[in-house]
Amino acid sequence: YTVLMVNGPNLGYIGRRDPGTYGTRGMDAVQTILEKDRPGLLDRIELNYFQANGEGEIIDRLEKAWKDNVQGLVINPGAYTHTSLALGDCLAWINIPHVEVHLSNIWSREEIRRQNLTAAHSLGVIAGFGIMSYVLGLEALVWYLDSL
Ligand code: DQA
Repeated sequence: YTVLMVNGPNLGYIGRRDPGTYGTRGMDAVQTILEKDRPGLLDRIELNYFQANGEGEIIDRLEKAWKDNVQGLVINPGAYTHTSLALGDCLAWINIPHVEVHLSNIWSREEIRRQNLTAAHSLGVIAGFGIMSYVLGLEALVWYLDSL
């Protein structure tokens, strides 16, 4: 499967940003965990990665994924989760199966983080497991794609 992993704004320095909330491990740990603890999974997918802070840049990249017939997404929209109708609209129309992931449990934090304009278009959401959310999200996505 061709899979694109997308990180939104302020997610370029995971492991360094507010480690009390988001953990001390970076995106490199996702690769390490996949190689070590999920044998065979990486052989089954062609995994690309993208991070951008701008809403438009993310939408442009998602449109490209649609054009390229990318089969699945794992996406952490960051704060755009709570604010971006534009990103929600994009995820709705490109209709690429995706799992929304968050490092933190967005329902256990400030009230505004419970507002979510993106998850309605996802297969499901994995939140609160730090960097492991990405690994679990990828597993869930592949499980779904296998079931098609
Ligand atoms: C986040 C949660 C969002 O509320 C926040 O704005 C982020 C990161 C997470 O992964 O926990 O930037 O998406």
